[in-house]
Amino acid sequence: MISVHDHNRDAWDELARQQVPLARPAGEKEFGKPQFIINPFGWVDFDVRGRKVLSLAAGGGKHSVLFALAGAETTVVDISPAMLDLDRKAASEQGVKVTVVEASMDNLAVLPEAHFDLVVQPVSTCYVPAVAPVYREVARVTAPGGLYISQHKQPANLQASLRLSPVGYTMIEPYYQSGPLPPVPTGSALRESGTLEFMHRWDELLGGLCRAGFVIEDTFEPRHGDASAAPSSFGHRCWFIPPYFAVKARRKTTATPAPKLLVT
Ligand SMILES: C[S@@+](CC[C@H](N)C(=O)[O-])C[C@H]1O[C@@H](n2cnc3c(N)ncnc32)[C@H](O)[C@@H]1O
Repeated sequence: MISVHDHNRDAWDELARQQVPLARPAGEKEFGKPQFIINPFGWVDFDVRGRKVLSLAAGGGKHSVLFALAGAETTVVDISPAMLDLDRKAASEQGVKVTVVEASMDNLAVLPEAHFDLVVQPVSTCYVPAVAPVYREVARVTAPGGLYISQHKQPANLQASLRLSPVGYTMIEPYYQSGPLPPVPTGSALRESGTLEFMHRWDELLGGLCRAGFVIEDTFEPRHGDASAAPSSFGHRCWFIPPYFAVKARRKTTATPAPKLLVT
């Protein structure tokens, strides 16, 4: 049976070939307002020039190139060779240097320890079965005091029906879900068709960060809801269920042993 890793690598290669919006390199809009991508919440509180930045699971030629143009020493990690090709092409077109690494976010063994001042991860932990190994790896490669800014799909977003029923958007997946979510038809703005996606619970997403050696400094729920949008559209569903959340975490400067969970 094909592994989750290989399945999602092939699925993202295909999405890149289809040039879906998430696989579009930086264009006029992003070059005009790079902070919308490299510092969308105002959480990066230092000049990235000369600093080591990891764009994690961020292939596609957007994050890496904008950080490199801002003067950062930039590495992009992604599972999909086709997404990474977009980074190579965009970097060459812009005349900037980007280190391109094909790896899975839950195994960053090729990257050095305590190296990065900033790790930025767009919504992507939904593509791995467990989030704890991702946090463990990010904690290993982040310098003490370094920032880790990540975005995730909210659990309820992955639990609820995509379409409106007569009683509203209904919870169709359990919170204590294990294994991949059922596939979705193409064209959903909330799920990526062809990929295997996994729901992670709040405790795993937030508590997991603390247990991996980070301190959470802030969180944010980007607003996408539109009360006047057509039923079952992206904006309408987001009016009922916020799709994503972002979290700002800082790598602890002193190593403290991870606390043991007393209950499971
Ligand atoms: C939502 S896209 C983010 C990049 C996009 N360019 C953007 O505009 O935000 C998610 C990315 O995660 C990557 N990905 C999926 N599973 C991964 C894994 N296990 N490790 C690393 N990257 C992964 C996909 O190939 C895809 O490029």
